[in-house]
Amino acid sequence: MKLAIGNDHVAVEMKKEMQAHLESKGIEVIDVGTNSTERFHYPVSGYKVAQMVAAGEVDGGVLICGTGVGISLAANKVNGIRACVCSEPYSARLSKQHNNTNIIAFGARVIGPETAKMILDEWLNAKYEGGRHQIRIDMISEIETTGKLLAAEEITG
Ligand code: RB5
Repeated sequence: MKLAIGNDHVAVEMKKEMQAHLESKGIEVIDVGTNSTERFHYPVSGYKVAQMVAAGEVDGGVLICGTGVGISLAANKVNGIRACVCSEPYSARLSKQHNNTNIIAFGARVIGPETAKMILDEWLNAKYEGGRHQIRIDMISEIETTGKLLAAEEITG
């Protein structure tokens, strides 16, 4: 498995811990930065990771800023990205099982690194369930690509 990871200036230390945690499990990690504590605009790393995920260059992404909000918002602007910020494991697991999230985000000012690692593991171990959930993801994709909400029946035909 290969993941991309990115962060802003407030999350450099947590990013390093998360990267080491992933690598200790044999996961290849591509770090898009930043590795400086100089002020850094989170959309840059959010976009870079999202582009790599959307292009299929990696199997998923991890993003960290102060709250996880700004960086996940930026990532979600890229077509095909389903990023969510998680501060507890239940939402992380369900976000994969039901929403097929391909990026998870954390707030370095919200939770500590040990909690974040536990949440990340829950997300990594979860599998998308498909089935009844797929039409809802297709509806989200329609909004994304056409700007319109279609009824489920219009998509399934
Ligand atoms: C940086 O001060 C902060 O705004 C950023 O890390 C993040 O929390 C934005 O959503």
